[in-house]
Amino acid sequence: MPIQFYPEQKIFKLDTKTTSYVFQVGFYDYLMHLYYGAKVSDADLEYLSYTCPHASHSPNVEHVLHKNFSKDICRMEYSCNGCGDLRGSSLSILRSTGTPDTDIIYVSHKIYNGKPKIVGQPATYAGEGEATTLEVLCRDPVSGAEVTLFYTVFENLGAMTRHIIVRNASEQPMDIQRVMSACVDFHDANDMDFIHLFGNWGKERMFERAPLLHGTQSVSSKRGLSSHAHNPFIALCSRNATEETGEVYGFNFVYTGNFLASAEMDSDGGARVLMGINPEGFLWHLDPGETFVAPEVVMVYSGQGLGGMSRIFHRLYRNHLCRGPWKQKKRPILINNWEATYFKFDEEKLYEIAKTAFELGIEMLVMDDGWFGTRDTAHSALGDWYVNETKLKGGLGKLTERINALGMKFGIWFEPEMVSRDSDLFRAHPDWALQSPNRPMSIARDQYVLDMSRPDVRDYLFDCIKKVMDSANIAYIKWDFNRSMTEVGSALLVSNRQQEVFHRYVLGLYELLERILTAYPNLLLEGCASGGGRFDPAWLYYAPQFWTSDDTDAIERLGIQYGTSICYPVSTMGAHVSACPNHQVGRSTPLQTRGNVAMAGTFGYELDLTKLSDEQKEIVRQQCADYHKYYDVIHNGDLYRLISPWKDRTRCAWMFVSEDRREALLTYVVMRCEIYQRYYIRLAGLDPNKQYRNEQTGQILSGDTLMNAGICIPEVLRDFDSRVFHFIAVD
Ligand code: DGJ
Repeated sequence: MPIQFYPEQKIFKLDTKTTSYVFQVGFYDYLMHLYYGAKVSDADLEYLSYTCPHASHSPNVEHVLHKNFSKDICRMEYSCNGCGDLRGSSLSILRSTGTPDTDIIYVSHKIYNGKPKIVGQPATYAGEGEATTLEVLCRDPVSGAEVTLFYTVFENLGAMTRHIIVRNASEQPMDIQRVMSACVDFHDANDMDFIHLFGNWGKERMFERAPLLHGTQSVSSKRGLSSHAHNPFIALCSRNATEETGEVYGFNFVYTGNFLASAEMDSDGGARVLMGINPEGFLWHLDPGETFVAPEVVMVYSGQGLGGMSRIFHRLYRNHLCRGPWKQKKRPILINNWEATYFKFDEEKLYEIAKTAFELGIEMLVMDDGWFGTRDTAHSALGDWYVNETKLKGGLGKLTERINALGMKFGIWFEPEMVSRDSDLFRAHPDWALQSPNRPMSIARDQYVLDMSRPDVRDYLFDCIKKVMDSANIAYIKWDFNRSMTEVGSALLVSNRQQEVFHRYVLGLYELLERILTAYPNLLLEGCASGGGRFDPAWLYYAPQFWTSDDTDAIERLGIQYGTSICYPVSTMGAHVSACPNHQVGRSTPLQTRGNVAMAGTFGYELDLTKLSDEQKEIVRQQCADYHKYYDVIHNGDLYRLISPWKDRTRCAWMFVSEDRREALLTYVVMRCEIYQRYYIRLAGLDPNKQYRNEQTGQILSGDTLMNAGICIPEVLRDFDSRVFHFIAVD
């Protein structure tokens, strides 16, 4: 059994093939953290927790008299506020007395096969025999709060998940001020680095790594969405960890709203990691008997560097987070008209693009923003989800029929959660937008955010989407979201529930997404938020692909896709070949390179194909054929990042290796060419004992030669040139 309880020492040991996580019911039944890391044989690690000198200087409750014990310096399993643990709290509950002191102790536990669903929320899932779960019930004897800590281990993956349920088991109301979904106290963080993914619009998930210092380092969002600014991901790694060596602990929050992720290093060299809903702007009221479910955190440990950590996240997300028919099914190559036409299109223009696209091997037309209401600019009509028949003569039905008759699928853009100031919907229902009494509403992109905590708003949106879906053969929806939330209040909620709106919004969004996928189970959903502003695991539960960034320049995309791949699989990253000069940065890159970079994602095009020369069309035709040829190794293979685009900003390389290690695909891109530079590159992830044929050069070399001696790119490459090499094992 991957999870064991040792009754004598009251120790829990949670093992995967490669990791152990150990904690104990300690003094006075407090849960004490003992260990997290590479797999160990022993369970009795109590000695690690109580070697705290000078505990007598730290606060303690009177009946806990052990001189080496204080909640402030021991490693705690789930830290509580105000009762002796003075580091970051996982839980803070405001009692009806008005005081926020919280203190939980162990009551009971159960261990079982499988993984329970988190009702109404996205989470990883497991089939028969794939996971084991531990539930630990704790109670605060004073406030009457009951807290259940959930731990699930994916034995074969080196990954575990956690979430929390808080129940008001008292006779009085209480308010949750703060509830983290995971807390991990590390014994020794002296030589650790803190990694996170920051960004902005067009510049998402930039990788940053710096030494962990004393004090608290954190990333967060209070924008209502997980956001461009910081991804809900952090990692701690050993100072000497590299891409393929060293220890890395990754934490990723399965939530698409406000979050907090922090690492706090003590004077004694320990560090506490916390991850959960951002307590700023959050207060959840619990009447007696009510429960609150805090979302899931995924934790991955790798002893094989950052690459090892990423590959565990990728496998977990591909197989235990993405779901529905599109989890396995090959994604269609799409052509999106946004950068080709922006708002200026009609049925004929779309048909013309689709026709050329189909001739080149593209499989789906996606009609982006501008097809509904009076939407000719970004200033109007969001919320008025009826077809603009001046643009699309004969309506959606006719257009889709023509596209389908070509042999292509049809997809459509929505931004359901928004309402334009200038829209029939806002004129009819101004109270449906998020707002705070007597406070002017901030505007962004000329739009407001609808109050998704309201069932009537969700019903309206469901009906609108249903009407559109039922009017035509629609295979795909791109679900956009283009502003942050401000003045977050709901016209429907009473005052002591207003700080619940951020989270209620997210739950409402989940409910609507689930309803749509239930009604249209074959629908392929692609998430989008001004590019990749909501690229998080919660979205991947509903949408197996997410538009990675509005920056479509191939060279900029190297960094964006590299950063995204730190925890998200390439099979989830929307990546398109766009026009040159690039619309975002003005750079011109070879069409080949644009294709090679976009191929490391869910592949598509976003330009007016009718304007391409015959020679360029031939390249596109070849790229589409390559997409099918390499689909398996890219989408289901393991990713090895070989050269970081940030290393010296001159080149970037990565490769995919099939699970059986018989096939590999290497991509090499020159970001800035240098005179006298020879392009050597060492491969990774191959079987050292197998022989591989390089399909481009015909050369046959063994895996160990390719990984140790490497290959040399046999030509002079210029700025933005790229090459792809395909390796097949020869028997
Ligand atoms: C932002 C998205 O990221 C773009 O791809 C495009 O769909 C626009 N919105 C449309 O308004």
